[in-house]
Amino acid sequence: MNLMSGLECQKMEPFKKPPCPAMVPISPVALLFLLVLALQSVWSSASQEQKVQSSPQPEISRLHHPTWSLGLQLYRSLRIDRSQTNTFISPLLLANSLLALEGGAKGSTAGQFHDLLRITKNDKAVGEALTKALKSAREANGTSYTLHSSSALFSKQAPKLEKSFLEKLQTHFGLQHVALEDAQKQTDMEKLQSWAKSGMDGEETVDLELALETKPGAMILANALHFRGFWDRGFYHENQDLRSFLGTKYTKVPMMHRSGVYRHYEDIENMLQVLELDLWEGKASMVLLLPFHVESLARLDRLLTLDLVEKWLGKLNSTSMALSLPRTKISSTVNLQAKQLATLGLVDACNVTSADFSTASSLGQGKLHLGAMLHWTSLELAPESGSKDGMHEDEDVEKPKIFYADHSFIILVRDNSTGALLMVGALDYTDGPAIHDEL
Ligand SMILES: *[C@@H]1O[C@H](CO)[C@@H](O)[C@H](O)[C@H]1NC(C)=O
Ligand SMILES: *[C@@H]1O[C@H](CO)[C@@H](O)[C@H](O)[C@H]1NC(C)=O
Ligand SMILES: *[C@@H]1O[C@H](CO)[C@@H](O)[C@H](O)[C@H]1NC(C)=O
Ligand SMILES: *[C@@H]1O[C@H](CO)[C@@H](O)[C@H](O)[C@H]1NC(C)=O
Repeated sequence: MNLMSGLECQKMEPFKKPPCPAMVPISPVALLFLLVLALQSVWSSASQEQKVQSSPQPEISRLHHPTWSLGLQLYRSLRIDRSQTNTFISPLLLANSLLALEGGAKGSTAGQFHDLLRITKNDKAVGEALTKALKSAREANGTSYTLHSSSALFSKQAPKLEKSFLEKLQTHFGLQHVALEDAQKQTDMEKLQSWAKSGMDGEETVDLELALETKPGAMILANALHFRGFWDRGFYHENQDLRSFLGTKYTKVPMMHRSGVYRHYEDIENMLQVLELDLWEGKASMVLLLPFHVESLARLDRLLTLDLVEKWLGKLNSTSMALSLPRTKISSTVNLQAKQLATLGLVDACNVTSADFSTASSLGQGKLHLGAMLHWTSLELAPESGSKDGMHEDEDVEKPKIFYADHSFIILVRDNSTGALLMVGALDYTDGPAIHDEL
């Protein structure tokens, strides 16, 4: 695939890295997965893709991909404090960068990373599942969606990091290392923000809600991505057709429309619609969770557990639908601070005195800790299909169910072949002219 050609591989972005064998231990659900992976393929380099004669795909739920438990857990913990502001994360990028940093940790610090990523001793399945998902996402880039992303480890007034650690960070996980030396806070933030902007192909970034507080020796994991999906079947839209979007702010937004047969489920008890839309060529899909009525997403956020999502996805059924979605660009900036990371279990990693990153630096004990995780996202909802002649053409459907997304909803993007959760987030409001007179 031309996406992988020479020049691009020099930039350090995780989706682009030729996968290497993972070195990291995992979880019990993944055992079967691991077995089949081991039989099925060798992905020690991008150019070497021979498959051992195809053994059938494992019949385990693809929701057991490690990105799901981590992604949903992080999403819920983020939304406890902020259910008002568009919040998007990429569980795949986050898991990858956590695993990269775990490689620098020892003792209970490392153990807490394992618990968060559900890695059991000497188990490589999580690392391998992530490598495989990154590769799959890289291959879908250019057909099902376009994706620009960048991941880095920033360090603030930290001791020198080991060469072997930095090399693995870069070649295996695709993380750059950037030292923030002695600069003022403002300058650090500017540096981070301009890094994010360039990683997102020039998209404007939203300022952090909370200032970045770092102590000497802090390491900051940062991810930035810009995602634009292309539908399997394009939408009809008119820019002049502005409607009210009833989110946490009321705004005017152009809507796009399409009717056809889609996988859909209506959860009457929990009062929401679940809709899955394929992206072009089927390498990924987008799942939308829309409450029946206008409401903040606080209620839905609490429902977003692995069990319930699994149930919903299992009940999707081909249904005649009339869809209307806002045409919009969503921006989100997330700052997971030490306190929040500690509540996720990374207690030692975030503690200035007890963090043990002595693999990352021989001087690391007591001198290095995890200070924050930052995540910038920009996601576009646009009408286009990936097909060149993708003119919009409604299918003839009788008595379609209405899916009119003019109020807040949740978006998940999943990779088809690995089942990985590429993105999860909440669209709380759309940018656009505010409506005052209708309130
Ligand atoms: C996706 O493809 C675009 C266009 O070819 C490229 O610029 C970008 O770097 C690729 N993104 C990733 C994450 O590989
Ligand atoms: C999607 O995944 C399924 C199950 O792994 C596979 O059979 C199918 O070919 C995939 N579709 C595409 C377009 O890759
Ligand atoms: C899908 O709908 C058909 C017809 O209404 C029904 O027989 C079938 O059980 C449904 N499947 C699921 C998974 O709910
Ligand atoms: C950090 O760890 C030390 C030693 O284990 C402990 O005494 C201290 O309370 C911890 N600090 C925080 C903020 O948890």
